[in-house]
Amino acid sequence: MEKLKGKLECDLILEKIRKNAMNQLKSNIIEHPYSKEQLWKWFLCCFNEIHSKPFQYTKEYMHTNYAAVFKYFLNDKSFFNCPNLYKHKLAPNFNKGLMIVGKVGLGKTHIMQVFEKLFHKYKPNSFKIIETYSVVEEYESLKTPKCKQDFYKRYSQGTLLFDDLNSERIANNFGKVNVMKEIIFRRHNNGCKTHFTMNPFPGLEESPLQNLLQLQDFYDARIADRLFEMCNYITIRGKSKRV
Ligand SMILES: Nc1ncnc2c1ncn2[C@@H]1O[C@H](COP(=O)(O)OP(=O)(O)OP(=O)(O)O)[C@@H](O)[C@H]1O
Ligand SMILES: [Mg+2]
Repeated sequence: MEKLKGKLECDLILEKIRKNAMNQLKSNIIEHPYSKEQLWKWFLCCFNEIHSKPFQYTKEYMHTNYAAVFKYFLNDKSFFNCPNLYKHKLAPNFNKGLMIVGKVGLGKTHIMQVFEKLFHKYKPNSFKIIETYSVVEEYESLKTPKCKQDFYKRYSQGTLLFDDLNSERIANNFGKVNVMKEIIFRRHNNGCKTHFTMNPFPGLEESPLQNLLQLQDFYDARIADRLFEMCNYITIRGKSKRV
């Protein structure tokens, strides 16, 4: 009985947080200098240009998958109603980054590369993509403590997208270090907007909460908890588009 009461109170508080976030959002929504139609047109052109093939889609595919990403970059309030945006324990917010989670080959990286290029010179939405494995490799090549200090400083600022979170290994450079854990921790402290792409844990494709909690095993509970605060969780479904 006590447990149930506690859960209900918890749900009420979460609901309140979500409502506050929505109200705050309505008052400071950004008007972007492009329309939905323009962004779509630019996206199709840019996809073709950088990947040398047309973007394949159906209305249904967009609605259930990547429309959420477009709406996020449009600051369109209907983002909050997207069917694949996880809402229960996370309070979605445009100030948070995106955590795009889907199985292999669903276009997460290729689609975000297009947005990276489109927003290259548009500060409110600009971000740089970094593969998590390359972060580890770079760390391993660092020679001095000062280089390591500069490395962390560099990755703890600006808006970044870490591609393939949780696929990287532990770095080894005169001692083992979980570099992404260190970076996420610093970015959270600095309040930097951070996007991620990630493959879900097998069997947890439809369980956003469990997926984030499972990250505790490789990072730790503090990091998993921070990711709740840092991200809007979007689930991508379908079959691999790799041919
Ligand atoms: N809608 C699409 N239209 C055309 N090609 C697509 C589309 N979505 C994905 N692809 C193609 O499918 C391949 C896989 O895409 P991508 O590497 O972005 O997948 P991913 O979700 O990042 O996979 P992983 O989890 O393995 O990193 C690429 O060749 C990409 O161009
Ligand atoms: Mg990828």
